[in-house]
Amino acid sequence: MALLTSLPRGTADLLPAESWKWQRVEQTLRRLSALAGVEEIRTPTFEHTELFHRSVGDTTDVVQKEMYTFEDKGGRSVTLRPEGTAGAVRAFVQNGLAGAAASPVRLYYFTSCFRYEKPQAGRLREFHQYGVEMFGSADAAADAELIAFAQGIFDALDLAAQVRLEINSIGCAHCRADYHRALREYFSARRDELCETCQDRLERNPMRILDCKSPVCAAIAAGAPKILDFLCEDCQAHFDALRARLDALGVAYTVNPSIVRGLDYYNRTVFEFVTDRIGAQATVLGGGRYDTLVETLGGPSVPALGFAMGLERLQLLLENVGFWQAAAPPEGCRIYLASLSPAASDAAMKLAHELRRAGIAAQSDLCGRSLRAQMKYAGKLGAPYCVVLGDDELASGVCRLKDMRTGEEKETALAALAEAVRG
Ligand code: HAM
Repeated sequence: MALLTSLPRGTADLLPAESWKWQRVEQTLRRLSALAGVEEIRTPTFEHTELFHRSVGDTTDVVQKEMYTFEDKGGRSVTLRPEGTAGAVRAFVQNGLAGAAASPVRLYYFTSCFRYEKPQAGRLREFHQYGVEMFGSADAAADAELIAFAQGIFDALDLAAQVRLEINSIGCAHCRADYHRALREYFSARRDELCETCQDRLERNPMRILDCKSPVCAAIAAGAPKILDFLCEDCQAHFDALRARLDALGVAYTVNPSIVRGLDYYNRTVFEFVTDRIGAQATVLGGGRYDTLVETLGGPSVPALGFAMGLERLQLLLENVGFWQAAAPPEGCRIYLASLSPAASDAAMKLAHELRRAGIAAQSDLCGRSLRAQMKYAGKLGAPYCVVLGDDELASGVCRLKDMRTGEEKETALAALAEAVRG
């Protein structure tokens, strides 16, 4: 029974006391997206498993340890999306957006993501992201635009002082060959201390060791050679151009040569916004450039980049800095229509529907309650206005409109209620 009535580990319910805060953040993000020409895309919750192997990468923690993968009744292997980029790129390719839309194409999404991780504060098995993907520019101007846009989100939510931007470049396939060689050399000396997965990564993709969650691997990785020392001329120039652009835009950042990100599709620019205010899971937003992914997934050669923000972590941050203290929750009910008789109850319900059509949040009794109980309920709703309808009010078409905050009452025609209570 307990299994049936309790949440699966790492998932959460979002109740009305909190959901309005999510709606407010969503409104802000949708507004900022529209201002920057970023349009919404919605993709399926599950995709063919192969999509994530090809994009996120076979040697990542996400693919090796964390995916919710199962066979459907048709015998196909499908996976609940662990992140949003792969699906967005698949949709970009499959729907021919590369040719059809004005370039760069800018897309955003709100998605639930699923990763079988060890749950803790800010780390869930089902979590939510707001993500942005931009297709069609290889220029560092696009990287700077995207990062400045992300910074703008924190500015709009009054969080600029709570986060810091860290950037890095992880080069391209060309410069990574030398880097991989250096990493193999470094880690080979301490091979036996690495976890089993990382011993395998040493051969297949040594950069992944830098992102391992095992504390022993992380400690060894801290002393590993840094990719920035291995950038080829073009990647170095791209990184320099990005830094110059960010400086010109007044976006403050630090270069953190340890950022490699946990997904394989990145090249060149990677970045994260981190905070000290939400505990160990400090990265609120992460992203980077992925110039080869569109082609890898069967599309034309289109450079691209993007980021995603963890919405649970963002809410945790907003909560911890007291953001909501000054915010008013949405008004649930503007006017409560109490009734004294069955006929009045009918009229109250009809009036409530008319008021709603006029854009006023209205409620009437649905439980056959006494007047006293109805007024108690109106109090719980926090309705600022109330009227009591009885036979007299129905006959005259006039009621006493009570302002619950001041106790004042004034005669008002039923037909004029909407205007009388409009905020
Ligand atoms: P990611 O770094 O794996 O990147 O995830 C982005 C953000 O999602 C993280 O910074 C974090 O805030 C949040 N997040 C990740 N895992 C969890 C979890 N288990 N529980 C709660 N929040 C979590 C991506 O997913 C890339 N697709 C981002 C991207 C878009 N890159 C390019 N375009």
